[in-house]
Amino acid sequence: MDKLLIRGGRRLSGQIKISGAKNAALPILAATLLTDKPCVLENVPQVRDVDTISALLGKLGSNVERDNPGIVTSSKAKGFEAPYDLVRTMRASILVLGPLVARYGRARVSLPGGCAIGARPVNLHLHGLEMLGAKIHLEGGYIKAEAPRLKGAEMWLDLPTVTGTENLMMAAVLAEGETVIENAAIEPEIVDLASALGRMGARIDGAGTPTVRVQGVSELGGLRYRIMPDRIEAGTYMVAAAITQGDIELLDCQPEHLHTVTAKLRETGVTIEEGDRQVRVRAQNRPQPTEIKTAPYPGFPTDMQAQVMALSCLAEGTSVITEMVFENRFMHVLELDRLGADIIIEGHSAIVRGVDRLYGAPVMATDLRASASLVLAGLAAQGETVISRVYHLDRGYERMEEKLGRLGADIRRIK
Ligand code: EPZ
Repeated sequence: MDKLLIRGGRRLSGQIKISGAKNAALPILAATLLTDKPCVLENVPQVRDVDTISALLGKLGSNVERDNPGIVTSSKAKGFEAPYDLVRTMRASILVLGPLVARYGRARVSLPGGCAIGARPVNLHLHGLEMLGAKIHLEGGYIKAEAPRLKGAEMWLDLPTVTGTENLMMAAVLAEGETVIENAAIEPEIVDLASALGRMGARIDGAGTPTVRVQGVSELGGLRYRIMPDRIEAGTYMVAAAITQGDIELLDCQPEHLHTVTAKLRETGVTIEEGDRQVRVRAQNRPQPTEIKTAPYPGFPTDMQAQVMALSCLAEGTSVITEMVFENRFMHVLELDRLGADIIIEGHSAIVRGVDRLYGAPVMATDLRASASLVLAGLAAQGETVISRVYHLDRGYERMEEKLGRLGADIRRIK
């Protein structure tokens, strides 16, 4: 298993290009199952989760080839089973469920099982599919879904689930009649999926608002689409500038997706200048403490919680970070404490007492964003930090050590 070795204490400066959004690429790749026409996707990030869903699409009969700059797919065959060995490595595999039921009237998808950051059930996905007329039953750890033809329905999501909204939107595009999804998630990745589906001929209104309306159509065409930039990758590098008191310009990003992150970082004393597709982040001194409460978009993203916690470890004062979306997304706390941070967990909140300095040490990544926070802390820590299990990082960050190296970080991957 690869490790990352970081010698901290260097200011990062320079420009990097933000890659395509993993959490937009995954549902849009799943959506290619809805047609047998070729689909060309550009700006797809080269991350493990994309490799995983590409392998899954291959098992389902799609022909997926990664060429520069993106991915070409076309699904001719009629596979409809998503096996456990693939689904357990990536929960987002559940995103093939809606398209398979919509296209073939049946699907057999492994239940994702537990996850490091929380229970993450899929009950809302399944309930929504039942509302569309699918017969769902669980056996042997698999979801079996059958529906001669899905029928549009009105449904209300108990929680604004991101992949739940995406799954149900994809199921509804080929259903008969109108579907209304109330209390839908409004993340930018939902809007990106809806515009890709629109290019394929789907009729969707209201994506990005809590009420999504879909008029079912009989079939969809192919598409050529450019994936939106990754707002969480961008936010992560904004924190890299802040924690190393550097000066980084992020290119090909969408600042309008990052307003809560920008506002919070400005509160800590970071200077942020927004262009229309770039952001410049500078910090000259030690960060001020902050209060964070994660929430669905447009609130502070749970996917940025661990990264801002790394910054708060060095603040001049005490920060309070409350995780309201997942029930167990504080695994990075004990690893940050190993680097000299002073954090205690009280229920859903982490109380972060700022320290003057962090000290390099061997630490272990536990989930995707936790590993990003350890990299950020290592960049600021005095001495050497070795991060193990970096396969977590590779799931969602494209060539992170290369991008950080170009900004002046002393970081290398050891096999
Ligand atoms: C998506 O996960 C993202 N993944 C996550 O990013 C992100 O953290 C999360 O949304 C929240 O923004 C992808 O888009 C592939 P949810 P998702 O369904 O859809 C509960 C990353 O770092 N819930 O919005 O699985 C659930 O337990 C990943 O890139 C149910 O109870 O999240 C959670 O508490 C990590 N029943 C809350 O809703 C359901 O049927 C939000 O989950 C579905 C969800």
